[in-house]
Amino acid sequence: MRRKIVAGNWKMNMTPSQAVALIEELKPLVVSEDVDVVFCVPAIDIIPAVEACKGTNIHIGAENMYFEEKGAFTGEIAPDMLTDAGVEYVILGHSERREYFAETNETVNKKVLKAFEHGLTPIICCGESLTQREQGITIDWIRQQIKIAFLNVTADQAAKAVIAYEPIWAIGTGKVATTEQAEEVCAAIRQCIKELYGSDTAEAIRIQYGGSVSAASAPELFAQPDIDGGLVGGASLKKDFGAIVNYK
Ligand code: PGA
Repeated sequence: MRRKIVAGNWKMNMTPSQAVALIEELKPLVVSEDVDVVFCVPAIDIIPAVEACKGTNIHIGAENMYFEEKGAFTGEIAPDMLTDAGVEYVILGHSERREYFAETNETVNKKVLKAFEHGLTPIICCGESLTQREQGITIDWIRQQIKIAFLNVTADQAAKAVIAYEPIWAIGTGKVATTEQAEEVCAAIRQCIKELYGSDTAEAIRIQYGGSVSAASAPELFAQPDIDGGLVGGASLKKDFGAIVNYK
């Protein structure tokens, strides 16, 4: 039985002092025995967030990471900077990074390999545009994203990964995918992992749905056989996040 995982993606929101205030507000609301709770915060909020979450069930994630160890990469964050600060998860390949910061499937793959090398759990994002959905190429596109993201990743590593299926047209738009649409793609992702690694890995890997998840849509989405939780943007900055974690 896979454990559910609900992660907040704060995106470029919250100064360090606002971050601590929000964590204090959310702490009592996100207590859960059976859901892993992750707050993925801006880099500058990581250190105060780790401190504020000590002694709670909240894990801290980063929103991005570079694939080199260190050196002349002005403005980037190295994997051991994250682990040393207490980060356990890292979102990789979010569609906003692909769109605005030119990330490709290949750079996502390099980051995934580096994250595993450092014991970080990657939350690997994939998703189709509205045009791709309308053209009927959603599944092909997602399979390609997954196959490249997992190049040279071992079965043991893959079993520990988290994949976030986020249809781009549903992100920040209030247009949540229907439960059927979300389950169809998440099942196809699991099938793709099965083809790559076999059934044990496919049964172990956790697949989230993301895109306008709310307290209202979470219960039905998270009850689907292939949806193991959510990656939540807008609603992760509000009290609603507590209701999403405690969706049952
Ligand atoms: P949203 O964002 O919940 O605001 O749609 C989700 C995401 O981009 O991870």
